[in-house]
Amino acid sequence: MVPNALSIRGLTKRYDDTRADRRRMLRNHAAAPSTGGFLAVEDFDLEIEAGSFFGLLGPNGAGKTTIISAVCNLIRVTAGEIDVFGEPHDALDARRIVGLAEQDVNLDRFLDVEETLLFHGGYFGMSRAEARRRAGEMMDVFDLRAKAGVRAPKLSGGMRRRLLLARALMHEPRLVILDEPTAGVDFELRLELWRYIRRLHDEGATILLTTHYLEEADELCEEIALIRGGHLIARDSADGLRSSYDADSLADAYVRAMGSG
Ligand SMILES: Nc1ncnc2c1ncn2[C@@H]1O[C@H](COP(=O)(O)OP(=O)(O)OP(=O)(O)O)[C@@H](O)[C@H]1O
Ligand SMILES: [Mg+2]
Repeated sequence: MVPNALSIRGLTKRYDDTRADRRRMLRNHAAAPSTGGFLAVEDFDLEIEAGSFFGLLGPNGAGKTTIISAVCNLIRVTAGEIDVFGEPHDALDARRIVGLAEQDVNLDRFLDVEETLLFHGGYFGMSRAEARRRAGEMMDVFDLRAKAGVRAPKLSGGMRRRLLLARALMHEPRLVILDEPTAGVDFELRLELWRYIRRLHDEGATILLTTHYLEEADELCEEIALIRGGHLIARDSADGLRSSYDADSLADAYVRAMGSG
């Protein structure tokens, strides 16, 4: 049996106390409560089958990036277990299987386009020759060849987004996590990215996508989870959500789900 691409069980993330919390406690001579800080995600379960195209939707602050950061081992989780294709998410093998394009465009300002890709390849254990070949392929796919020697700050916003995606895909991950990949990109580039992400999925990659564009989720995702306040509200296909919430559009279903959950 093929293990699920992603299995999240009982994930809770409480961000540590903020400085303001600590100052307030000091002022009031209060002992630090064991439940301080900010509870972003609570007892969250999610199973995503291998090969699916999955959307994670929810308002600002719902916990989407927190969940993704936990999967990619970028934050310490408070409680819970996460497996990627049957491996614990913090094992080296699991980390190699996942490719993440973060919501924040976090490119190294001192590296040019080609170096960004080569360094990433090296980081994931690719040989120099292999990284060169793949970097060339990625620059062609994302139309960045003409900018190979240009550093990140001198790229346009859309080019930076494309580079972020190219970098996430450098090591040919089987689980591709895209945190708002089309935020702020123009109409044409959005369609182009959709085409590319779809192709990736057709070639067998499992995709986990977050977006605030409901038509994007409707167009691309086979299954959608709606989350709010760190909790799962609903999980179904776009059609399933429309019918459960007796809505004409996914946007209507979303608004009703968020109002009722
Ligand atoms: N490092 C942090 N320290 C404290 N609180 C945090 C931290 N990161 C996120 N949070 C809080 O956790 C909650 C969930 O944030 P998260 O970034 O996961 O939301 P999101 O669903 O990705 O939202 P958006 O759609 O705006 O990207 C928010 O209330 C946020 O302020
Ligand atoms: Mg986010």
